[in-house]
Amino acid sequence: MQNAEIRLAEIEDARRILEIYAPYVANTSLTLTSKVPTPEQVAKTMLDVKKHHPYLVCCIKGEVVGFAYAYKFKPHEAYNWNANLAIYIDPQFQGRGIATALYTALFQVLKIQGFCNLYAVITIPNDASVALHRHFGFKELAIMNKSGYKLGSWHDNLYMEMTIPGSADPGKSSGPLSMSQLNKNELTTIMAMASALLSGSSSSVRS
Ligand SMILES: CC(C)(COP(=O)(O)OP(=O)(O)OC[C@H]1O[C@@H](n2cnc3c(N)ncnc32)[C@H](O)[C@@H]1OP(=O)(O)O)[C@@H](O)C(=O)NCCC(=O)NCCS
Repeated sequence: MQNAEIRLAEIEDARRILEIYAPYVANTSLTLTSKVPTPEQVAKTMLDVKKHHPYLVCCIKGEVVGFAYAYKFKPHEAYNWNANLAIYIDPQFQGRGIATALYTALFQVLKIQGFCNLYAVITIPNDASVALHRHFGFKELAIMNKSGYKLGSWHDNLYMEMTIPGSADPGKSSGPLSMSQLNKNELTTIMAMASALLSGSSSSVRS
């Protein structure tokens, strides 16, 4: 794929992120968020996330076509080394390795920050998301039956978990580093390596 780039999200990306996310909220139960957020809410979430977690976008020819971010697992301090995940790709660009490139970069950033355990909460059925997470080594933890009600029916949630391979011993740190504490050159290298995954991938979709 030509002119594909993985990079840190900027506040100006909020408009495109909302364009990608809104149809999933309005028309599907892949997310159990029921109300499409306003552009201001998307921007605020991004600013909140970016303080402590990576928020990444994939751009093709300069336009955002997908995004992924990690966010706080739970408020308790003991859970500081865990993170939840979110990932959404524009349907026109699915099946081309974009989620793989985004997650590759996201997990490397989380690792150098010092995070250990990652969780995906997937409304099932969602074969693509389950396969994506298995592909990265996530294991099924539990299914919460009928845990969400949206668009006139009940939905089950599958919890999947992965410990980042080679993650540091939490006992040796006071908590993960914030995004601003990371070495800028190291971040640039991670983004370049993830972008390179896309330059070698096909521009055609999965058959
Ligand atoms: C799930 C999603 C993020 C995958 O994005 P993508 O860019 O199409 O994924 P990739 O092309 O990088 O595929 C990575 C792996 O995921 C799996 N996968 C992706 N799409 C799949 C599909 N439709 N069916 C089965 N497996 C699929 C495969 O294992 C694939 O690896 P492979 O190509 O080596 O077989 C995308 O389908 C999406 O945005 N779905 C809607 C939103 C959503 O469900 N988000 C997750 C909420 S928990």
